[in-house]
Amino acid sequence: MTVRVGVIGAGMIGQDHIRRLTDVVTGAQVTAVTDIDQARAAEVAARVGATVFPAGSDLIASPDVDAVLVTSWGPTHAEHVLNAIAAGKPVFCEKPLATTAEDCLRIVEAERAHGRRLVQVGFMRRFDAGYRQMKEVITSGSLGAPLIVHCAHRNPTVPESYTSVMAAQDTAVHEIDVLRWLLDDEIVSAQVITPRATSQRFGHLKDPQLMYFETANGVRIDLEVFVNCQYGYDIQCETVGEAGLVRLPDPAAVAVRTAGQHGTAVLQDWKGRFADAFDTEFREWVASVEAGTEPTGPSAWDGYAATVITDAAVRSLDSDGTVVTVDMKPRPALYGGTA
Ligand SMILES: NC(=O)c1ccc[n+]([C@@H]2O[C@H](COP(=O)([O-])OP(=O)(O)OC[C@H]3O[C@@H](n4cnc5c(N)ncnc54)[C@H](O)[C@@H]3O)[C@@H](O)[C@H]2O)c1
Repeated sequence: MTVRVGVIGAGMIGQDHIRRLTDVVTGAQVTAVTDIDQARAAEVAARVGATVFPAGSDLIASPDVDAVLVTSWGPTHAEHVLNAIAAGKPVFCEKPLATTAEDCLRIVEAERAHGRRLVQVGFMRRFDAGYRQMKEVITSGSLGAPLIVHCAHRNPTVPESYTSVMAAQDTAVHEIDVLRWLLDDEIVSAQVITPRATSQRFGHLKDPQLMYFETANGVRIDLEVFVNCQYGYDIQCETVGEAGLVRLPDPAAVAVRTAGQHGTAVLQDWKGRFADAFDTEFREWVASVEAGTEPTGPSAWDGYAATVITDAAVRSLDSDGTVVTVDMKPRPALYGGTA
């Protein structure tokens, strides 16, 4: 069976995922596209022979759409995801699941009422080969219990439209999701400290930021978010356990010796760094839709958790580094909890 996918939002990542579903992943076909910019929708749909729909609700209702991909702006995600659940169709939603905890909970409740998981959220790091190897090592128990995680998330530069709260909402949110999964543990508090700001930034921006998280099992996580580091896109993660440590590998790159130097190039953006992870993410999602099974990737609950933890980090930033307790509801049974 070919999974017929309808795409809501034909912007930057929507077009990249349409290319991926068309050229990289087998078993899927993009049959429908919509965008509030209808000219853009028509142009993108024409590339893959898809039908243009006037709005997300029409696309979701179409009998030619088996599964929905939401790649519109964050504040619009909840409406489309709720419509897809109401139609009983699997839906892949780029992060964030929703921009407020309340909207995330509405989605969780709708999915619980439906009775089985339909939603997958686009946290692609869980599909990165290096993070998967780290998880295998941690889960094997060979390091003993994890105690500390050191992380860094660095971008060369960001545009002037990037604000200080986006360090948590758009940047650290990827660590927040992947660390909950990596440790199989929940984040219970967040603290954000702002050291001396780099002069290589816009005046309004607090950059870098140091974020500290504590988990239910007492693991301490430190995360440096530095989005104007100048030199490249650099993701670091090291988990220290009772009997050793495991470190995320740097992406493979040739070593060059020239002019008295020995080195490797540093990637410049997230697209190159996580290209394979995005491909794997969609391969596995399409396979689950094709098989009629629940998705195995990040759930609506994970989307909710990421939003409430991010909210706690933003509250800490706004209160000069106070430790903020994460206000999370009990996890429902549909997502492996007891509520
Ligand atoms: N997983 C990741 O690492 C990652 C990377 C980039 C973007 N994203 C997420 O993907 C989403 C889209 O980001 P982008 O960079 O492609 O943005 P973008 O602005 O390039 O594209 C968004 C598109 O959605 C359209 N749109 C907005 N509201 C709509 C609606 N209600 N119905 C139909 N179309 C609508 C816009 O016209 C635009 O074409 C964001 O939520 C972003 O956070 C995730």
